[in-house]
Amino acid sequence: MDLPASPQQAHRTVTGKATSRVVLITGGTSGIGLSLADSFLREGDAVAVCARSRAGLDRFTEKHPDGLAVQADVTDPQARTALLDAVGERFGRLDVLINNAGGLVERDFSADDATAALDQEIDLNLTAPIHLTGETLRRWPDLSAIVFVTSGFALISPTRAPTYGAAKAGLHGFAEGLRRQLAPRGTHVLEVLPPTTDTPATAAKTGPKLPPAEVAEATIRALRERRPMAFPGNAKLMPALLRIAPRTLDRMVAKL
Ligand SMILES: NC(=O)c1ccc[n+]([C@@H]2O[C@H](COP(=O)([O-])OP(=O)(O)OC[C@H]3O[C@@H](n4cnc5c(N)ncnc54)[C@H](OP(=O)(O)O)[C@@H]3O)[C@@H](O)[C@H]2O)c1
Repeated sequence: MDLPASPQQAHRTVTGKATSRVVLITGGTSGIGLSLADSFLREGDAVAVCARSRAGLDRFTEKHPDGLAVQADVTDPQARTALLDAVGERFGRLDVLINNAGGLVERDFSADDATAALDQEIDLNLTAPIHLTGETLRRWPDLSAIVFVTSGFALISPTRAPTYGAAKAGLHGFAEGLRRQLAPRGTHVLEVLPPTTDTPATAAKTGPKLPPAEVAEATIRALRERRPMAFPGNAKLMPALLRIAPRTLDRMVAKL
């Protein structure tokens, strides 16, 4: 793929459509991350993804031979450095960082030990994306956008996974402060808060699930419109429900 010479050329055409950005998506081999990769590639952007499993990365490369698939665990500091090295070597720059890799662990604190592998969960959902963001900004200070895929559970914590709610709420707070810090240099900080989405992570769950392509579509639209937050699907009801009917929302979340 031919990349434009300057970042200004890279981000906008005369029609205002974003084009040919270099986008890095953590956890881009499955679910929401893979749908995001599909969508950015369709828009004509250059895409790098990372994940831990070789099989997922190989499937990605088979589907998208122009994409860059890097084996990297985002919780490993050396792997994060190698990931950014690989993006720099292949594309020479990064325009959009998407912190997407994450996962929910069900824990019942009313039962026995509910804290097994807690540090790994917090690292994946909170600490690692903060580190990766800091490391990316040090290399590419004029990054165009940083996206955090948190969750509707960042605003109201799930009964079955309170530590997931805590970590996502933490990332929500980080995104909010970072947005103000980076505003003067024009870096757009977008938080995406999906509702339950149909991905391998939710395969065992019944009930309504949003197609991941709709999360990707909402993300691309929010980036284009430079919105601070995107609420795909029925998550769009959350801000109003939190304001006017928090008890109803509480009852709805108890069933999820
Ligand atoms: N699905 C939902 O209902 C839902 C709703 C709201 C928010 N979210 C959030 O959306 C994001 C994506 O979720 P998803 O449902 O699409 O998950 P998914 O289908 O399980 O995909 C997770 C992706 O992250 C990668 N990954 C996991 N741990 C990693 C690590 N330590 N380092 C690098 N990559 C890692 C996985 O690949 P490997 O396993 O090969 O590493 C995979 O590519 C998560 O942050 C999740 O919390 C999901």
